[in-house]
Amino acid sequence: MEIKVFTIFPEMFDGPLSASLLGKAREKGILEMEVINFRDYSTDKHRAVDDTPYGGGAGMVLQPFPVVAALRANLDLNEEDLEVILVTPQGAVFDQKAAIELSKKKKLAFICGHYEGFDERIRKFATKEYSIGDYVLTGGELPAMVMIDTICRLVPGVIKEQASFEDDSFYNGLLEYPQYTRPRDFEGMEVPEVLLNGHHEQIRIWRKKESLRRTWQRRPDLLAKYELDKEEEKLLAEVKAEELR
Ligand code: ADE
Repeated sequence: MEIKVFTIFPEMFDGPLSASLLGKAREKGILEMEVINFRDYSTDKHRAVDDTPYGGGAGMVLQPFPVVAALRANLDLNEEDLEVILVTPQGAVFDQKAAIELSKKKKLAFICGHYEGFDERIRKFATKEYSIGDYVLTGGELPAMVMIDTICRLVPGVIKEQASFEDDSFYNGLLEYPQYTRPRDFEGMEVPEVLLNGHHEQIRIWRKKESLRRTWQRRPDLLAKYELDKEEEKLLAEVKAEELR
């Protein structure tokens, strides 16, 4: 996958995109990342990329020219397998489903907004707009990093075991079941017996049931959107009976 980030703070991306799994995936050539400073495309003698808003009001607005010039110089905007993502609190809320879809693309570009806002005409050059949640950060850089990290770990080869994200919270619409490792007894808290017996079918059912219990207790909004199969209906009924006892 090829990712290009357009920002006026390229240095913010140095650490997060080089460390850990993403760094390794870049070394292996699974991911290619480039961070482009759209200030380099300013025609202003002070390299300014913003100006005061028409109609008056506080703050500065990101101008269309440097952003669009940077996009045109670094991307083929007509390319099919390219998604140009505008990072803005006004976008659709980014979730695991969006991450899974975007992880299938060959090329992604992220435009990080900064300042109080950006010229409305920049929107026309994006194919998608995403927010990371209902709160406002100082700019789109951290949200872009959150999205890049979430998407990239789904790209085949970035994580060693493919199965490890298929059990993730949210991957299938439910929260993940509880996990345990050694020791069997930690300060009197014991690992559930079923996980110790090596009976794969029993373990699968226990995990499914605990995943349903967690989601029902903590995120009923997720459960309401989830389509239960017959087995899950039965397990959830058991959970409710146990919890309401
Ligand atoms: N820029 C500022 N806040 C943001 C958010 N919540 N999501 C995406 N971009 C942003």
